Amino acid sequence: MTSGNNLLTVRSLGMRFGGIQALTDVNFNIPVGSISALIGPNGAGKTTVFNCITGFYRPSVGNIELTVDGQSIDLGNLLASRLFGGSHRIARQGIARTFQNIRLFREMTVLENLLVAQHHHLNHNLLAGFFRTRSYRSSEQTAIDHAMWWLHVVGLRDCANRLSGTLPYGHQRRLEIARSMCTHPKLICLDEPAAGLNPRETEDLATLIQQLRQDHGVTVLLIEHDMGLVMGISGHIVVLDHGKVIAMGTPQMVASSPAVIHAYLGVDEKTDEKATTQ
Ligand SMILES: Nc1ncnc2c1ncn2[C@@H]1O[C@H](COP(=O)(O)OP(=O)(O)OP(=O)(O)O)[C@@H](O)[C@H]1O
Ligand SMILES: [Mg+2]
Repeated sequence: MTSGNNLLTVRSLGMRFGGIQALTDVNFNIPVGSISALIGPNGAGKTTVFNCITGFYRPSVGNIELTVDGQSIDLGNLLASRLFGGSHRIARQGIARTFQNIRLFREMTVLENLLVAQHHHLNHNLLAGFFRTRSYRSSEQTAIDHAMWWLHVVGLRDCANRLSGTLPYGHQRRLEIARSMCTHPKLICLDEPAAGLNPRETEDLATLIQQLRQDHGVTVLLIEHDMGLVMGISGHIVVLDHGKVIAMGTPQMVASSPAVIHAYLGVDEKTDEKATTQ
């Protein structure tokens, strides 16, 4: 497999937790500029793949390569170079994420949540912050402007000074997206962004995700159980079951795959055919 036009290349990825083999020989590519989806039944290993890509877990085997402007970086090397802070080093390479269970600083305002996210990306030196030098103040103002702009994009500008824990659930999901976009990612990994949203909010989310790609040039990797959303906006889908890739391709290819139908419904097409001809 070559990197070709792929932003991310996952090769022979394996992850073991004690006696649990969560991922086995997982291989897939994420085309640059795509909206791609990672789907599969509960416990299939989707979040574990995200945790490996974003440096929260160090894979037991395999490698993950990020290719930007023709330059490839082995993310495993970033994790190996030092023991802690791997996820921050990977974020600096341009990979951002949201979480299946929303993780915001609930006691901070909406704006502060975005400032904290950017702080990891700014190279402030401690003394400049302590003495509040002119360059420090100017970079702080830039961070505020940038945060306010992202709040505008996700429709939360009017909520900037509210405590994030008091926002309705759908707004919190959008805030998480704004927070990850604040760091100028090349790839954004969204873990079940439609979970808990009503149909109207899910429709708005679909529009927002498409806008992120079209207007802001980010590649999107989506984990989602809402098949309407997945099939509606993804160009490329990878299906996992019991830690293994069982299908990948366009929505049409995946939807008609017997292995996928079996994984989701517990029946294969032959049994199905029999049932309908009887
Ligand atoms: N930190 C961990 N320690 C032990 N086992 C884990 C850990 N993280 C994940 N697992 C196990 O790995 C398997 C895959 O879990 P994962 O959360 O990746 O599934 P998922 O596809 O995201 O499921 P869901 O759709 O329910 O979110 C499960 O058996 C889970 O219990
Ligand atoms: Mg999950």
